[in-house]
Amino acid sequence: MLNPKIEKALNQQVILEAESSQAYLAMASWAEVQGYEGIAAFLYLHSDEERMHMLKLLKFINERGGHGIVPALKQPGSKLKSVKELFQQVLEHEILVSNEINKLVDICLKEKDYTTHNFLQWYVSEQIEEEALARKIMDKLKLIGNDASGLYFFDRDIAGLSAGKQDGTDKAA
Ligand code: FEO
Repeated sequence: MLNPKIEKALNQQVILEAESSQAYLAMASWAEVQGYEGIAAFLYLHSDEERMHMLKLLKFINERGGHGIVPALKQPGSKLKSVKELFQQVLEHEILVSNEINKLVDICLKEKDYTTHNFLQWYVSEQIEEEALARKIMDKLKLIGNDASGLYFFDRDIAGLSAGKQDGTDKAA
């Protein structure tokens, strides 16, 4: 049976993962409208992954005798100045998610909930990969600077940057 304190903290994480999915969906739509097809495809996929992160948590809470709560949708921002600003936001968001996962792990240790602690290790690994990928992308964008042709190739090649991180299949299942 899930400790109510852990259940509450996990449901908070459900909210954050759902918000992540919405935020990346809004970014994908912005990129698509700007004509960045590769970036849009990358972000649509990323949004789907975040939904799977949310679902995995929700199901775990229910399996452990708690109640996974589906949160209300908050409208994410839809105006961005540049691709660089977009990915800077992705990186900052992933760092925030990692911090929240770490806090959850900490609560589990304090409450001696080793089952949830074990479950969360998947998220710990996932966050290492997601942050590394976002940093790799930002490094590329810094190299490109304001070069339009560089951005053209970045948009064409972004799917390849995630190689090794994900193959588009659902790791969260
Ligand atoms: Fe599910 Fe990218 O955090």
